[in-house]
Amino acid sequence: MKNNHMKDQTKPSYLQGNIDNWTEHSEAQKSSILRRWEMEPCWGMWKAPDKGLDLLPSEMTGLYALEIGCGTGYVSSWMARKGANVTGIDPTAVQIETARDMSEKHNLKINFLEAYGENLPFEDASFDFVISEYGSSLWSDPYLWLPEASRVIRKGGKLVFLTNSIFFTLTCPDLEDGGPPGYELLRPYQGIHKVKWPDTPEETEFHLTHGKWIELLNSKGFRIDALHELSALPNANGSYDIVTKEWASKYPAEEIWVCTRI
Ligand SMILES: C[S@@+](CC[C@H](N)C(=O)[O-])C[C@H]1O[C@@H](n2cnc3c(N)ncnc32)[C@H](O)[C@@H]1O
Repeated sequence: MKNNHMKDQTKPSYLQGNIDNWTEHSEAQKSSILRRWEMEPCWGMWKAPDKGLDLLPSEMTGLYALEIGCGTGYVSSWMARKGANVTGIDPTAVQIETARDMSEKHNLKINFLEAYGENLPFEDASFDFVISEYGSSLWSDPYLWLPEASRVIRKGGKLVFLTNSIFFTLTCPDLEDGGPPGYELLRPYQGIHKVKWPDTPEETEFHLTHGKWIELLNSKGFRIDALHELSALPNANGSYDIVTKEWASKYPAEEIWVCTRI
C-alpha cells in the first residue's frame, strides 16, 4: 500500500479537542473495551452478534481493509483474524499505542497508524472494505470524511459505519448527570450537524438527519444496502450505562449504515 497521498489540507478546527478528549478518557475505558479483543465480532452497546447482521464478510483473506478511528483496535483484530490485510488509523497517540501493544500480544500483524479520517494518507482505491465503529462515524465531519472514504475504496468495495442513532442524539439530556435519554425531543432534527455537549466542551460530535446521510452518501458514489437500527436485545441484561433497556427496546440507540462503492 502506498503512503504518498497527502493533500495540502489544514486540520479541521475541532480535531485537537477530540484528540485531547480521547487522550484524557482512553485509560478509564480501557479495561472494558480491551475485552472485545477476546470476543467474537459483535456490535454496539448490546453486543449484537455479527451472525445475522453479517457486517464483516465471512471470508476476508486477501482483502485490504481499513478501520477509520480504530481506537484500541478490536474491530481491526476481528478482520485480521479473518485473513484481511488490515490498516487501522486513529489520531490519538495513546489509542494507537494500545492497539499496537494488543496486536503484538495477540500475535496479529496489523498496520496501526496515527492519522485522521478527514485526510487519509492512502492512494485512491486502495481498500476493499472500510469500517468505522464510533470512529470518524461520530467524531469527524461527514462532509469531510465520507469523500475521503469514497476516494480510498475501490469500486464494488464496501463501507460500514456505526454511530449513535438520531433518536438517541435528539433525546439525550445535555448534561451527563441528566440521566439517560427520555421520551422528549430536546434538540432540533432539521439542520443537525455539529453537536456539542456542555459538560465536555472540548469534544465535537457529528450527526445528520437520515435524509442528509442518504443525500451525502449517494452524492459520494455510495449505494446504501442496509440501515440497521439496533435496539436492546430481548435477552440483554439490565441497562447500558448511557441508555435504559426499556428505552432501547422502543427506540434504536445505534444505527449501522452498510454501503457499496459504485
Ligand atoms: C469510541 S473510540 C473507537 C472505538 C474503537 N472501535 C475501539 O476499538 O476502541 C473513538 C475513536 O475515534 C477517534 N477519533 C477522533 N477523531 C477522529 C478523527 N477525526 N478521525 C478518526 N478517528 C477519530 C478517537 O481518537 C478514538 O480513538
